[in-house]
Amino acid sequence: MTILVTGAAGFIGHNLCLALLSQGEQVVGVDNLNDYYDPMIKHARLERLAGFERFRFAQLDLADDGALEKAVSPDAITHIVNLAAQAGVRYSIENPRAYMRSNLTGYLNVLEFARAAKDLKHMAYASSSSVYGDRADGPFSEIDPVIKPVSLYSATKISGEMISQSYAHLYGIPLTGLRFFTVYGAWGRPDMAYWIFTEKILRGETIDIFAAGEMSRDFTYIDDITNALTCIVDTPPTADVPHEVYNLGNSTPTPLMDLVHAVEKACGQEAKKNFMSKQMGDVSKTFADISKAKAAFGYSPKTTIDQGIPVFVDWYKKFYNI
Ligand SMILES: NC(=O)c1ccc[n+]([C@@H]2O[C@H](COP(=O)([O-])OP(=O)(O)OC[C@H]3O[C@@H](n4cnc5c(N)ncnc54)[C@H](O)[C@@H]3O)[C@@H](O)[C@H]2O)c1
Repeated sequence: MTILVTGAAGFIGHNLCLALLSQGEQVVGVDNLNDYYDPMIKHARLERLAGFERFRFAQLDLADDGALEKAVSPDAITHIVNLAAQAGVRYSIENPRAYMRSNLTGYLNVLEFARAAKDLKHMAYASSSSVYGDRADGPFSEIDPVIKPVSLYSATKISGEMISQSYAHLYGIPLTGLRFFTVYGAWGRPDMAYWIFTEKILRGETIDIFAAGEMSRDFTYIDDITNALTCIVDTPPTADVPHEVYNLGNSTPTPLMDLVHAVEKACGQEAKKNFMSKQMGDVSKTFADISKAKAAFGYSPKTTIDQGIPVFVDWYKKFYNI
């Protein structure tokens, strides 16, 4: 396999590249290294990959038409994992155009590249649990309608799934959409709550707790996701219109306050807390039904937040020499 990974300097992308390279695969990574969060972290992630001879990296913006084809020959690629995106729900209120650019124009350009790749066997792409909108019930199943996005981020992810369906139908490109549920862990994302809580608790600063803590998330540990992805990459859908969508969550909705307590415990310090109202675009709950991914790939996440959060906090302290 020669696998193109977009968003290779991102949290999930660089972990996937590392796992694929460790298995002996050829990996071509692309990323625009944007400054949505500290690009130093993206450069540090790329340094972890630089030691592999089978890894090649190109810095480019997928939303620039033709940039991907100029840097990478479609004929050289057999598999694609599209992880590049403008992530984050709250930032879509501040900077909506970044979402249209990366998640729609950029994604279309990756699909056009896939269309030109004559030896392509499969393309997997990141969707999100946010497609389910704001629901109090659960678990959320892939057969549930996804027609009520509560953020632009969510709307672009639903659109990505719709566009993928049309490309599978029109051109027979085998496509697998992956609805990730709050992925966390070492080398993670500084815009996410577990990172912000850790940073502020270790500095003795007050943490903001939105929706007065009355939210729950299906926290999913990065190693469980990486293990699943390495299997999914080489398992294309086989239906007449080859497009499938899977939930990749932990199937354990966890109250936000349990996350706060897990971070406090791992940091060895109690947080100063500021309870706030719910933020625009936030959902109350995420809860994945993972039976479809279990049946298809043997997906079986194992890590609880009481196991995963201490690993993250240890990594964070080492990374910042605390
Ligand atoms: N981490 C999660 O909890 C989570 C949950 C749901 C969905 N997702 C999705 O999974 C994917 C990976 O997420 P992540 O957590 O690793 O995020 P991330 O922000 O760490 O990684 C995304 C990478 O894509 C790159 N990128 C963005 N726009 C680009 C463009 N136009 N051209 C080239 N590169 C571009 C960024 O520089 C970044 O390195 C994203 O599609 C995200 O929406 C993540």
